[in-house]
Amino acid sequence: MPMRFSERTGWNTEESDLARAHRLRREAGLPIADLTASNPTRCGFGYSASLLQALADPRALDYDPQPRGLLPAREAVCRYYADHGVALDPAQIVLTTSTSEAYSFLFRLLCDPGSEILIPQPGYPLFDFLATLDDVRIKAAPLVYHDGWQIDAEGIRRAITPQTRAIVAVHPNNPTGHFTKPWEAEELARICRAHGLSLIVDEVFLDYAIGAATESKGETGRTGAGQETRTTAGLETGATREGSDAPWSFAAGLDGVPVFVVSGLSKIAGLPQMKAAWIVATGPERAQALDRLEVIADTFLSMNAPVQWALPAWLANRTEIQQQIRSRAGANLAELDRQLAAFPTLQRLAFEGGWYAVLRVPALEPDEQTALALLERGVWVHPGYFFGLPESGWLVMSLLGYEREFRAGLITITDYFRTNQDGKT
Ligand SMILES: Cc1ncc(COP(=O)(O)O)c(C=O)c1O
Repeated sequence: MPMRFSERTGWNTEESDLARAHRLRREAGLPIADLTASNPTRCGFGYSASLLQALADPRALDYDPQPRGLLPAREAVCRYYADHGVALDPAQIVLTTSTSEAYSFLFRLLCDPGSEILIPQPGYPLFDFLATLDDVRIKAAPLVYHDGWQIDAEGIRRAITPQTRAIVAVHPNNPTGHFTKPWEAEELARICRAHGLSLIVDEVFLDYAIGAATESKGETGRTGAGQETRTTAGLETGATREGSDAPWSFAAGLDGVPVFVVSGLSKIAGLPQMKAAWIVATGPERAQALDRLEVIADTFLSMNAPVQWALPAWLANRTEIQQQIRSRAGANLAELDRQLAAFPTLQRLAFEGGWYAVLRVPALEPDEQTALALLERGVWVHPGYFFGLPESGWLVMSLLGYEREFRAGLITITDYFRTNQDGKT
């Protein structure tokens, strides 16, 4: 008898054409300008060796199984939110090994098999897998673009069914870089209250608001409108709180709505390898929610002691890496805009935060083909459909890579569109 697998793991695990082409090129030792690089530990940033010393705390020799996480670590998370103007009680926090695990705990808290969750589209591709593994169905909470991204409230309302349990917002979103504005948060709260839904907010990119004004050419790709538009981060775009440079956090809660904020060290402290994240629970029934989350966490007790003892120091030192990341992303963004200025058919969409830029390109062939053609020329970019954008006309690039590599990759991209695609129009 052949082994019987679960239906939920019935994925097509065959290598895609794009993945194969990338592997073959790497194996052949051919150069690749990687415009998808988003692992901060491999982008040449300076990490202090003292970060590892924090792991040698002798208190970690004791095993104290605390399902919500050790108190000093949860207090450190509270200090992080205090820096964002939100006062929290450590009892509102549950530590997890990753944001992914935090999602899984929340799906198990809120959903039965077949329940539905709305996730932002375009958005983070891992949601599909996270939901499938917990027998949850996902539906799109659409974002629309008009001189900047915004939620499509009507689209969200239409997607809600009696099976819907929660809406996910990513603040700011990956890859659109869209910060949820206060008016959008209010709209989401109204929808959640009307339908008895929870709101799950992923704030892993919260501290990466685009500090300087970011410019974007108008919607020139197809309409040829050609006008310049300007978006300014900070208060005007609703990314920061009044009287503060720090971005505003949903951890403050929303009236009458169960809000669960997930975040962690992978982006905030640039330490994805350390595996530490958290859930903040707010809202009217948070005590019951936290009791249940505690049982879920107690079942796995997945946090290890050295990381929990080190977490306060890592969070306290986060600005060191955050500054490097912001400065790299800012420099690459400036280079992107400089190179695109001469190409009216390539448009960088306006965004307010995060590490990614979305490019609107002539939709003359499937983006998979474009990505393959660019790879043959030595540049690796994401086709937009990875993130739920349409099949044609969108590329997504990370702003985290080495500046020289990023610049060279962009030259190849603009050359490609000049020589190949301009000829077809
Ligand atoms: C929106 C979003 N959430 C969560 C994560 C992953 O976080 P973690 O490493 O804590 O699972 C990512 C990683 O890219 C992400 O883009």
